[in-house]
Amino acid sequence: MIKHLLNVNHVNKYFGGNVAISDVCFSVEEKQIFGLIGPNGAGKTTMFNCLTGYYPVSSGDIVFDGKKINNRRPDEVCRLGMARTWQRVKPLGSLSVLDNVMVGAFAVTRSLHTAEKMAREQIHVVGLDDYAAQLAGSLPIGLKKKLELARVLATKPKMLLLDEICGGLNHTETWAILDIIRSIRNSGTTIVFIEHDMKAVTSICDRIVVLNAGEKLAEGTPAEITSNRDVIEAYLGGGHHA
Ligand SMILES: Nc1ncnc2c1ncn2[C@@H]1O[C@H](COP(=O)(O)OP(=O)(O)OP(=O)(O)O)[C@@H](O)[C@H]1O
Ligand SMILES: [Mg+2]
Repeated sequence: MIKHLLNVNHVNKYFGGNVAISDVCFSVEEKQIFGLIGPNGAGKTTMFNCLTGYYPVSSGDIVFDGKKINNRRPDEVCRLGMARTWQRVKPLGSLSVLDNVMVGAFAVTRSLHTAEKMAREQIHVVGLDDYAAQLAGSLPIGLKKKLELARVLATKPKMLLLDEICGGLNHTETWAILDIIRSIRNSGTTIVFIEHDMKAVTSICDRIVVLNAGEKLAEGTPAEITSNRDVIEAYLGGGHHA
């Protein structure tokens, strides 16, 4: 039977009088790579902030792994198994790569020995073994993104929310990250993926939801989404094409 790991039911998020998310519903199946796309300001990052407890929702329900998680604290949501990366990478620059990843592991263990073991495993998954002792602040952006991935993987998430993990990367770096994301999914982790690069999105996602100005505009397979007229309009800014 198909299991939905995440259900987003009629979620609204207002900032004062501004509607950032308007009555959005979607469900993510276990082990899916699920794309959340849309033009700038569509509400993608706000949705992640609501899912992970950084913002309270204004109304609606978020159910993760059978538990209602609306308005729980970020650390509680993390311990339940939902982890996220940030649109702007935030490594602790003056700490080593290993120490940065251990910070992630400390979300789920208090043992220094276990944390180091877990951190080294994830450093290996993202291919940063040769950089473990290097200061995080000295890494180029492509490696910082891999570090960000290793750090959240070290929390042993059931679901990983990736906010523009390919942003600022060149083609080769993007494809390397996509390969790592596929291997993470193949080892059993469900992924929700925010990304502007449509080629990356359509190559990796099983299913996609499109947000536009806070509303759900479309949902479907990559083929359905790329041929959807409303989606094309939203991206090309309507009226400029037949
Ligand atoms: N803390 C906040 N206070 C007020 N308004 C906010 C806040 N966070 C987001 N918004 C507003 O919510 C809307 C959605 O923003 P959000 O950052 O979620 O968009 P996005 O889809 O992630 O865009 P981008 O692709 O540019 O990252 C925008 O109008 C934004 O200004
Ligand atoms: Mg964003």
